[in-house]
Amino acid sequence: MRCRHALWHALSLYSFLPHVFAGNNTLAQDPITSLCVEIAHSISSAGQVFFPGDPSYDAGIFHFAVSSTQQSKCVVEPGTPEDVGKILVILGRTRTPFAVKGGGHATNVGFSSTLGVHIAMSRFSEVNYNSSSQTADVGAGLVWDDVYAALEPFGVNVVGGRVTGIGVAGFTLGGGYSWKSNQFGLAVDNVIAFELVLPNGRITTVTEKSDPSLFFGLKGGENNFGIVTKFKLKTFPQTEVWGGSIDFLGSNLDAINNATIAFQAVTDPKAAIIASYGSTPALPEPLVNVLMFYDAPNPPPGIFDAFLAIPSLDSNIGTRSFLSLVQSAPSNSLQGLRSVYQGFPILSFTAGIAEVIVNETLFWGERLLNQSLFDISYSVEIFLPSVYSHNSAKTAYPPVRNIGFQPFNIACAWNSSEFDSVFHDAVVASSAHIHNAAIAQGQTGLTRSPIYPNYAVSGTPLADMYGSNLPALRALKARVDPENVMGLAGGWKF
Ligand SMILES: Cc1cc2nc3c(=O)[nH]c(=O)nc-3n(C[C@H](O)[C@H](O)[C@H](O)COP(=O)(O)OP(=O)(O)OC[C@H]3O[C@@H](n4cnc5c(N)ncnc54)[C@H](O)[C@@H]3O)c2cc1C
Ligand SMILES: *[C@@H]1O[C@H](CO)[C@@H](O)[C@H](O)[C@H]1NC(C)=O
Ligand SMILES: *[C@@H]1O[C@H](CO)[C@@H](O)[C@H](O)[C@H]1NC(C)=O
Ligand SMILES: *[C@@H]1O[C@H](CO)[C@@H](O)[C@H](O)[C@H]1NC(C)=O
Ligand SMILES: *[C@@H]1O[C@H](CO)[C@@H](O)[C@H](O)[C@H]1NC(C)=O
Ligand SMILES: *[C@@H]1O[C@H](CO)[C@@H](O)[C@H](O)[C@H]1NC(C)=O
Ligand SMILES: *[C@@H]1O[C@H](CO)[C@@H](O)[C@H](O)[C@H]1NC(C)=O
Repeated sequence: MRCRHALWHALSLYSFLPHVFAGNNTLAQDPITSLCVEIAHSISSAGQVFFPGDPSYDAGIFHFAVSSTQQSKCVVEPGTPEDVGKILVILGRTRTPFAVKGGGHATNVGFSSTLGVHIAMSRFSEVNYNSSSQTADVGAGLVWDDVYAALEPFGVNVVGGRVTGIGVAGFTLGGGYSWKSNQFGLAVDNVIAFELVLPNGRITTVTEKSDPSLFFGLKGGENNFGIVTKFKLKTFPQTEVWGGSIDFLGSNLDAINNATIAFQAVTDPKAAIIASYGSTPALPEPLVNVLMFYDAPNPPPGIFDAFLAIPSLDSNIGTRSFLSLVQSAPSNSLQGLRSVYQGFPILSFTAGIAEVIVNETLFWGERLLNQSLFDISYSVEIFLPSVYSHNSAKTAYPPVRNIGFQPFNIACAWNSSEFDSVFHDAVVASSAHIHNAAIAQGQTGLTRSPIYPNYAVSGTPLADMYGSNLPALRALKARVDPENVMGLAGGWKF
């Protein structure tokens, strides 16, 4: 018993213990699993490694879309930036495929998932507000809900995600369209510093002053330049807000289209909407969900009246906390299904574009009905044309700031893996159809409007997202990651 006790103690770090006692030597046979053990030995006591069968393993590989979850050999939860550095050195030396996951909302397979070593950033969970600098240090493992909740007692907020569950890291490193973007720009426009573990394992703080080109690259360049452990974000005063979610039936389509088109004339930067035109097998007509936001306890009269006058299926509009508004959206009803997103920029939401989008909703709703479709929706996200004017410095995304393009997107949810490629091809075809129709209708500026990398479906050419920034991003990549360590992780690769 003494001996057994000592062994338990020695191995208690690992959850594969039953395996070891069963005398199963598969661990020694699988090189990546052995590497997981090496990582467990190398990192500090603040970090931990989990193997299949452990609930922490399941939580580590979990994604919003079940199609984005892959069975890695282990889940590594680093506890310190030094741990992240040691892990990157081991993975780089052994050329081992890996993934880095923040909030797990990527809808492209392999962007934050892997069959190799899965790094879950969940232990980077601090929120430290500094009232004198009006900044918050925010850990890379958090979702925005946590950040909003932590800042609420101070009456301040940051530029973050619009619905529940989105990760701070992927959102911010890709661009970040927020309810507050009309006032303050994208998430990338409000980062003051990144704490970054470079691909060679060295820890650095990247600011405009310390390394302007890396600062530029991290603002849209996702996981190309290393692993971010902490963001220093600008904060803004936050009162209670007004808004929520309303569902309308297709019988009111004309009125909804008119209200959405008319909303583009609103110049108040505190107001924003997302109108999602959806089709779901349960209903023979389109369903439109409108999320409304006003950054004060009550909106001035006029702004939302046209929507409020339309008979609704259900509504939860009201005065509430920012966090409550974010959690009022029905987006989580699609969690746990297979998912694909595709962005399609649009310059102006006109009656002609509305007609094309409604046709797409019905066309694909019917076409995909017998292919385990759960939901297809086209999100019309109305921002002010000045949304890109809040930053004079260049950022990796967006590559252009003088065109007020809107980052519309298609989201599909379905059940059966058998149809994964059908849905991929459907959103590619549908976005191309709308793009071409919009250009035919006179929106020629779209040929210079980028696709938002956080919405783009896998296979999208880098130039369609990063445009003329691509050469600079490639040069930066060659400087910062000459051994291409980050190339071992999936995502958009420069
Ligand atoms: C339901 C839903 C709603 C959304 N709403 C919005 C919205 O309102 N506005 C908007 O702009 N976008 C929105 N998006 C898109 C969202 O911005 C992206 O999915 C984003 O990538 C999510 O970040 P994450 O941390 O949750 O993702 P993850 O899947 O964890 O990561 C995404 C990418 O970032 C990389 N990454 C993660 N952590 C790090 C790190 N610490 N260092 C380096 N790289 C890292 C990953 O490797 C991966 O390539 C939404 C997506 C969904 C599914
Ligand atoms: C060892 O583990 C592998 C994989 O989990 C399994 O297929 C095999 O049957 C096990 N062998 C023994 C002797 O338990
Ligand atoms: C808060 O910000 C002020 C002003 O920039 C700075 O002097 C101070 O050191 C910061 N405090 C902490 C705890 O970082
Ligand atoms: C929508 O706008 C069009 C064009 O202005 C108009 O003809 C139509 O009556 C409006 N429909 C509704 C329901 O408001
Ligand atoms: C509707 O959409 C389909 C698929 O994109 C397209 O082939 C068709 O021409 C569209 N119909 C109209 C009337 O726009
Ligand atoms: C779905 O229906 C179409 C005809 O509407 C048919 O061509 C297709 O094969 C069907 N797909 C499946 C998977 O049943
Ligand atoms: C898909 O899954 C959802 C949730 O589990 C279920 O409600 C729905 O009936 C399924 N739809 C199809 C088409 O299989």
